[in-house]
Amino acid sequence: MKYYEMHDEVYENISRIGKVSWDGLDTAEELFNHEINLAIAKRVDHYFPKKENKKAIDFGCGTGTVTLYLANLGFEVKGFDISPKAIEMANENKTALKLNAEFKACDLTQLNNLEADLTVDSSLLHCLVESEHRRKFFDLCSDLTFIHTMIESEDMSEMTGREHLTFKDGILWSTGPDRWEMDWHNIDGRKMFKHRRISSEKGFLQEVEKNGFEVLEYDLKVNEKNPCTLIGWIKRKK
Ligand SMILES: C[S@@+](CC[C@H](N)C(=O)[O-])C[C@H]1O[C@@H](n2cnc3c(N)ncnc32)[C@H](O)[C@@H]1O
Repeated sequence: MKYYEMHDEVYENISRIGKVSWDGLDTAEELFNHEINLAIAKRVDHYFPKKENKKAIDFGCGTGTVTLYLANLGFEVKGFDISPKAIEMANENKTALKLNAEFKACDLTQLNNLEADLTVDSSLLHCLVESEHRRKFFDLCSDLTFIHTMIESEDMSEMTGREHLTFKDGILWSTGPDRWEMDWHNIDGRKMFKHRRISSEKGFLQEVEKNGFEVLEYDLKVNEKNPCTLIGWIKRKK
């Protein structure tokens, strides 16, 4: 089992309690007001005054939160997610909202040569912990990419205060059920797997640069529940 394949089980649980998205929204209509979409809304007209015939790809689309928002703006959109359950729910949300979009269950780290005018990291990148997977993410990005990702804050206690998590060396480690065949590590005497990469602001900006992109603009949002969120737009250097 790859460390990011556990998300499918999360979506099974989300669906069981009748919610329509990763962060527990009740109806498809509420997806449009998700904080990622509100952040995209601030600048999307600047980068795409016209959306018709523009192709967008949503990385880690989950139940279609961003894919369907972009479709509603007029983009031709595809959403990719590793979780078949999430894709099933995304298609249900698509039907509820009467929109067009193409959803596919796949492992992004196994894809090649995607064509798009805009790619969106709708909170996928911090799920990719290993360097080779993160390099692959940047390879797949189009010339313009919107980023929404977790960044280390000075105080990570809110997150590490949770029973099943520990933050060490830029990695959020998690415990999990024994039945998961993970690459388990002994972290402070507990059996844990690499769950999230949470880089420092400086480390993340260096990674973007190293992968051939320049940062056009970004903001750091300090959350009540840390870590911070980096919201920004990056462009492939010519
Ligand atoms: C934090 S969730 C965000 C979901 C959605 N974008 C939203 O905001 O509602 C991250 C998503 O990335 C997906 N994911 C993680 N690793 C992946 C991979 N290797 N390939 C495709 N999707 C992946 C997970 O299944 C999960 O749906």
